[in-house]
Amino acid sequence: MEDTAQAIANLTRERWEANAQYWVKVIRERRDRYRTELTDKAVLDAVGACEGLRVLDAGCGEGYLARTLADRGADVTGVDVSQGLIDAASSHPSSTDKTTFVRASVDDLPFDDDAFDLIVCNHLFSHLHDPTGALSEFSRVLKSGGRLVLLTLHPCFYVENSEQGAMNSVPASQYFSPRGVDQKFVVDGLESPSMITSWLRPLEFYAGTLRDRGFVIADLREPHPSPQQLRDDPWWRKGFPTALFMLLIAERR
Ligand SMILES: C[S@@+](CC[C@H](N)C(=O)[O-])C[C@H]1O[C@@H](n2cnc3c(N)ncnc32)[C@H](O)[C@@H]1O
Repeated sequence: MEDTAQAIANLTRERWEANAQYWVKVIRERRDRYRTELTDKAVLDAVGACEGLRVLDAGCGEGYLARTLADRGADVTGVDVSQGLIDAASSHPSSTDKTTFVRASVDDLPFDDDAFDLIVCNHLFSHLHDPTGALSEFSRVLKSGGRLVLLTLHPCFYVENSEQGAMNSVPASQYFSPRGVDQKFVVDGLESPSMITSWLRPLEFYAGTLRDRGFVIADLREPHPSPQQLRDDPWWRKGFPTALFMLLIAERR
């Protein structure tokens, strides 16, 4: 009999397989304004110059970030649990010999110790029920002095339907234990075929787990729309009712 953690991991994988073609459409038609107008720039700014770096794109989806970093001169390996998304990434016409895509879970990476200079996790962590295994693996495969750039839902403020303007606060009784938000994606009017659970955990989880695995937090940022975006665009005023994203930059000691 599977234990609970394995059953949740299997369910997550099945749901992402069911959502794979939906996700390809959302990303390739640039339907997600949170990414195209906010978080992509924040992640790329955090990465900085990456020419010649060995980069792991953990939870790479259909591979757009890997392709962008490869265009900037990095050698990028993308991993994802969804075979549908790995197939989409591998067969993209602008994939080059600077990108490699492998189906694997971040809990069990098929790479040697110290194999990477940089790991990027773009909107991955909210899909991990328990990210401690992933952080252990990142610590192992990242060389000393290497960096982890992690963009995820804001642990303190994200609630169900935040994207539709919901602004409820999270009671302490829920905040301090891992909490799951079950919902379908609705991006630019497109609804995902399968439900997804977004897992959130307190800020101190990140600080403590990173520290215990040999990381030092170098920066914590909260990507948010500019005053001009909020003033000029009702979409941002409704869709960004509170801080929605957290970006951590951590260095491997
Ligand atoms: C919101 S998508 C983000 C994909 C991509 N990073 C992007 O920004 O488009 C989350 C991704 O995490 C992947 N994922 C979920 N659990 C995973 C795991 N344990 N190991 C690797 N990938 C995982 C999913 O298959 C999905 O592609």
